[in-house]
Amino acid sequence: MKRFLGLLFVAASIANAAPSPSNLIANVHARTTISLNGVWRVIIDPYENGLGARFYENRKPKDKQDLVEYDFDASGTLQVPGDWNSQRESLLFYEGPIWYERSFSFHRAELARSFLYFGAANYQARVYLNGKAIGEHQGGFTPFNFEITKDVREGDNFVVVEVNNTRHSDAVPALNTDWWNYGGLTRDVAIVEVPATFIQDYFVQLAKGSQGQIAGWVKLDGATQPEQVTIEIPEASVKQQVTTDDHGYAEFKFAAQLQLWSPENPTLYRVELSGARDRVQDQIGFRTVETSGTKILLNGKPIFLRGISMHEEAPFRGGRAFSAEDDAVLLGWARELGCNFVRLAHYPYNEDMIRLADQMGLLVWEEIPVYWDIDWQNSATLQIAEEQMRDLIARDHNRAATVFWSIGNETPVNPARTEFMKQLASYARERDSTRLITAAMNHFIANAGANNRLLDDPLGEYLDVLGMNEYVGWYNGPIAAADELQWKTAYDKPLIVSEFGAGAPFGAHGSADARWTEEYQTSLFQHQIAMLRKIPSLAGMSPWVLMDFRSPRRPLAGVQDFYNRKGLISDRGQRKQAFYTLQKFYREMAAAPPEQ
Ligand code: GCU
Repeated sequence: MKRFLGLLFVAASIANAAPSPSNLIANVHARTTISLNGVWRVIIDPYENGLGARFYENRKPKDKQDLVEYDFDASGTLQVPGDWNSQRESLLFYEGPIWYERSFSFHRAELARSFLYFGAANYQARVYLNGKAIGEHQGGFTPFNFEITKDVREGDNFVVVEVNNTRHSDAVPALNTDWWNYGGLTRDVAIVEVPATFIQDYFVQLAKGSQGQIAGWVKLDGATQPEQVTIEIPEASVKQQVTTDDHGYAEFKFAAQLQLWSPENPTLYRVELSGARDRVQDQIGFRTVETSGTKILLNGKPIFLRGISMHEEAPFRGGRAFSAEDDAVLLGWARELGCNFVRLAHYPYNEDMIRLADQMGLLVWEEIPVYWDIDWQNSATLQIAEEQMRDLIARDHNRAATVFWSIGNETPVNPARTEFMKQLASYARERDSTRLITAAMNHFIANAGANNRLLDDPLGEYLDVLGMNEYVGWYNGPIAAADELQWKTAYDKPLIVSEFGAGAPFGAHGSADARWTEEYQTSLFQHQIAMLRKIPSLAGMSPWVLMDFRSPRRPLAGVQDFYNRKGLISDRGQRKQAFYTLQKFYREMAAAPPEQ
């Protein structure tokens, strides 16, 4: 019966064309750019009237007869980068289209080609230059770029972007999330200038399972003949040359003596690629990460992941975090907690956050927002998820800090979902076989007695590392229920308890059995830590959550006020009692590394 069913599902697997290769320009920050950040003119367009009215033409009345019912210059403004919800009280709950306009003067320098680059736009973006459609993108948390070489003019230009954060059931994420649907041009916007043939992307990492061999590739854009490319790592006396094929692609493998990157020693090397009159520099760490039974090995040694989950919510001011200051505060708090690991839930964060984790020596779990229930049977939805995975990997595949690609969170157990996730897991592995594929699951059964819990989600089969969210003491039973519970998994794989937690507004005090108090949250952490330490396959944890964050699902007045209050730190930066409970445990764990 089971085998037949297997066949049926394979037959019914979602036939979708694999996404086209990423055309993302890697490491934009190291390129020649013209920033378009700053003040943009905006028109709020709840009925999306602007498409028919061609707002993208940014037209002025020709004469006093001419009817034009919009005027960017007379309209309000918004800051870019930045979500619109936290910039104006009137836009806090706004979901819909907003049109952005920005005029700029352009003078072509010696570099022949120009691209319009967006760090992210939530959720859907239609991009126009000088009234001409340049391209569209969907997915709120990954970068995209369009070539504008032929469309940008010497002198005055204007770019118009329609951004629409309306939720859709076939989107990724879909209709329901426990985070605020911050809309807008939430990250950097810039013009990137490159030579006619340029280094579009590269992958320079240690070969899988090797500590002395670098294996990678380089991809040129615009090549019409074989080109010489040089890879240099001066501090490791590496200088290698490769010749690309006609399409500008070349693979390489060579030996190198390197100081391995680790949380204790986050060594980054200056890596320079040059060829075809282009040159790109990057800061890259080299480390290996793999599993061995239920252990996670970093550079061949078992490591215990002392982690915390977080949201890309700006500390103190609220809104989508995007700046180096935001990143430094959030990762600084994780470091203060004693973490060597952060779970960046539930969507790709800004690139600088990952680069900062590289510098700080924090291991990173990156995730795409396949969150709760989405349209599992829809091949277009699978394609969107794969494209988000493709672009996340393309953006961060040279970051030593990133060790996990998570394909989703708390997805329901059903055959269509498992088939969808199976395809997503193999797609991610195809694109990067040097990192570990994971997902956060929350489907476990009570087997063999009320106190035994078994994580047996079929998705586990397709993962390298199992993530498990459990809310014993908050959504499931009293805090003390944890004391009796024995956890097992159906797989001989490392387990990360990717979420547990309790809500408590900062400063709310009472007895340890009173919900919504710091004492309750602290007590829950104490019982959880004792329970989790007993799990043989436990390789790490990332409790929920670093800081209180905005959520449309949390209306409890006077307590939540549209914030999820499970933070160990309030949105105002105040540390709750449980912060110190976890900090104490992590200090103990750091002092007693796991057995070899
Ligand atoms: C879930 C989910 C989180 C959510 C949390 C909570 O498990 O993964 O996104 O915020 O639980 O309920 O607080």
